Amino acid sequence: MRPLQHVLGIAEISREQIEYLLQLGQPFVDLSRRPVKKAPTLRGKTVINLFFENSTRTRTSFELAGKRLSADVINISASTSATKKGESLLDTGHTLAAMQPDVLVIRDSRAGACHFLADFLENTAVVNAGDGAHEHPTQILTDLLTLKQAWGDIEGRTITIVGDIAHSRVARSHLLAAAKMGYKVRLVAPKTLLPVRIERFGCKVFNDFDAAIPGSDALYMLRVQSERLQSACFFPSIREYHEAYGLNMQRLDAAGNHTVVLHPGPMNRGVEIASDVADGARSRILDQVENGVAVRMAVLTALCGGQAEPKKRARKKEQAMAAQKAQRKLL
Ligand code: NCD
Repeated sequence: MRPLQHVLGIAEISREQIEYLLQLGQPFVDLSRRPVKKAPTLRGKTVINLFFENSTRTRTSFELAGKRLSADVINISASTSATKKGESLLDTGHTLAAMQPDVLVIRDSRAGACHFLADFLENTAVVNAGDGAHEHPTQILTDLLTLKQAWGDIEGRTITIVGDIAHSRVARSHLLAAAKMGYKVRLVAPKTLLPVRIERFGCKVFNDFDAAIPGSDALYMLRVQSERLQSACFFPSIREYHEAYGLNMQRLDAAGNHTVVLHPGPMNRGVEIASDVADGARSRILDQVENGVAVRMAVLTALCGGQAEPKKRARKKEQAMAAQKAQRKLL
């Protein structure tokens, strides 16, 4: 298997690497349940979490993951970083890299921010903790570990993703993962919240939630990403949205007893999901949270133990510098 250099997106990692990370993640669930939740695996390593967007689950789980593995963990958020004083992302990246971290975890509202930094940072592995509406690879690894625990095998299963597909990095990364891992994805949303020609990813698309329910092994509910909506006209009202696209007990019963419920969080109860479903027996939402720590422990372990490829990185850096120079000449 090719060693992991960065975790930028599901697009960049292979099925083999995904399976390896899931396998590595499972024992970390057990470690986190022990009274002493500590392993020396990353002693002497440094992890910087750079979060330019709000986060509870992802940020806390990366922090806990690093700490439980004995790494030194630093957290930087938008409100406390020098970007508030006008520093560019590249300068922030170079500055942090000069402090020799082993891993830089980044969440940014700009799609591709992590790819951009990965091109410039020579000795630091970069992890994408969510880049705009583009990708969220560690959330998908978290979901796959949760579904593996529920089903054993994911291949051939059907996951129905419901809600704001257009602005969801989770939905996008799942579509990429489904093609690699052999599971099926159905997408359910009003037309205003669906990207055009999304069927080309090989998924079935529904505007009617009830029509998509039979045969779904998992119902994956998404929050309406109001922070990314340019106007308030994507659906008539919250009440109507809940009627048409909210998961209630009646809909869950129509799916069948075997169907599990997922949500990446944060949930808006009464909008995309009813409280009795969120807290019910078929909900795996808190398992997702627990597994999120384990999967991130697996990612950090794989990146710190992986073989760096200095020559390749140096070549990439030269290319990026040349591109930057050429761009400067044009301006
Ligand atoms: C998701 C995200 O940030 O993309 N949440 C998460 O990482 N736990 C989904 C969301 O914000 O609704």
